[in-house]
Amino acid sequence: MTPPSTAAVPPDAKVAGDVIEVTDSRTGATHSLPVTDGAIRANDLKKIRTQDEDDPGLLSYDPAFLNTASCRSSITYIDGDKGILRYRGYPIEQLAEGSSFLEVAWLLRRGELPNQTEYDQFVHDITYHTYVHENMRKFLEGFRYDAHPMAMLNSSVAALASFYPTSRNIMDEKERNISMIRLLAKLPTLAAFCYRHAKGLPFVYPDNRLSYVDNFLSMVARMTEPKYEANPIFSKALEVLFILHADHEQNCSTSAVRAVGSSHVDPFSAMSAGIAALFGPLHGGANEQVLRMIEEIGSVKRVPEFIEGVKAGKGKLMGFGHRVYKSYDPRATIVKKLADEVFAVVGVDKDLEIALELERIALSDDYFISRKLYPNVDFYTGLIYRSMAFPTDFFTVLFAIARTAGWLAQWEEMLLDKEQKIARPRQIYTGYDERAYARKIAL
Ligand code: ACO
Repeated sequence: MTPPSTAAVPPDAKVAGDVIEVTDSRTGATHSLPVTDGAIRANDLKKIRTQDEDDPGLLSYDPAFLNTASCRSSITYIDGDKGILRYRGYPIEQLAEGSSFLEVAWLLRRGELPNQTEYDQFVHDITYHTYVHENMRKFLEGFRYDAHPMAMLNSSVAALASFYPTSRNIMDEKERNISMIRLLAKLPTLAAFCYRHAKGLPFVYPDNRLSYVDNFLSMVARMTEPKYEANPIFSKALEVLFILHADHEQNCSTSAVRAVGSSHVDPFSAMSAGIAALFGPLHGGANEQVLRMIEEIGSVKRVPEFIEGVKAGKGKLMGFGHRVYKSYDPRATIVKKLADEVFAVVGVDKDLEIALELERIALSDDYFISRKLYPNVDFYTGLIYRSMAFPTDFFTVLFAIARTAGWLAQWEEMLLDKEQKIARPRQIYTGYDERAYARKIAL
């Protein structure tokens, strides 16, 4: 397995084999901190203390977890400098080219590709758990016609916990297994119901004759046809996009799933935490914001003016930049190729021309080059989704369906990891010292 990248060494520390010796200038004492897999244990810093008997020991301070590994994981490997993404060792390019989303979902959880028997059984299990309880319809019908589909999806996934109370037995492998099957199977159904609610259309029930992706497209778009036939280009595009979005190691939403799951809540509640995190415009919500930005720009000739505004701090170029990828996002390369295939069928429109001009100018501008800002996966996905006639506010829902596979794999890995406990970061308190209560209002 490829080792993780080396963690930063404290400035006054010298490396000695597999320990780092740190001299504390406050006390003159030297401390040895063992180094494993390029990391020191933050808990080992506790032994670095002053003579003050109230000193609880040294803390590491890392807002936004810029340089803190929160877990050991064997699921997804990313090298942000080289633009590498692998699921369980398999390059994303090869999986996008040759696998199916359900094969990838199995791989992420189990660590190995399924054999034919395992795959057929898995597809069968997913297919036969796609229905949701009829009360869920009533629940969804309670939303306003203009409710954001991510808010609806988030609440309905959380509500599933009430239908499956035994899912709280998370240490029972059988319970875990059926919950994971249910989540993967029902996410497309709930997502499609959210779509149909917004459109004021009757809900379409799952069709067990169809593949995972085609069944989803059928529940979204089917009208009076006895059997829905998806456009094969759209089916292929969605399958690939689901594979690309299936996991991305310890991103914001996955960390949310792990943190919430570490309280040993049921998986439906933990997944809804992931959906909530994904909703944000700095994370999965970016694909929606890219399209809104393009609509706001309005024409190719306004692109230079918009870029100047971004450089002057008037907003961000949505779909650009990534916390981890500092050369290119390998998913963006695949998506761009996919977009070309889709646009060859549906045609190039004004918005795509604006996007291409934004990309062209940004990639040659020193502001973006010096900050290592490149298009991320979300720069192009919105354009593909829109050409498939998905409404803009539905884009992140599509992301959530796919990421459920990764969230589930990461959630289970966290639960079975003997080193994990309830997630509970420390803080550096910056508030008042003790002070006496003196009322300022009349009660
Ligand atoms: N447009 C303009 N400037 C940017 C952008 C952007 N999209 N992204 C970062 N910068 C600038 C910052 O202002 C900062 O500039 P400074 O050094 O002059 O202050 C510098 O680049 C470094 O940026 P940070 O904010 O420190 O980078 P961070 O790793 O914290 O943020 C993030 C990463 C959130 C993805 C950011 O690049 C961003 O907001 N991008 C737009 C939203 C987006 O596309 N999100 C999708 C990410 S992919 C995903 O979640 C699936």
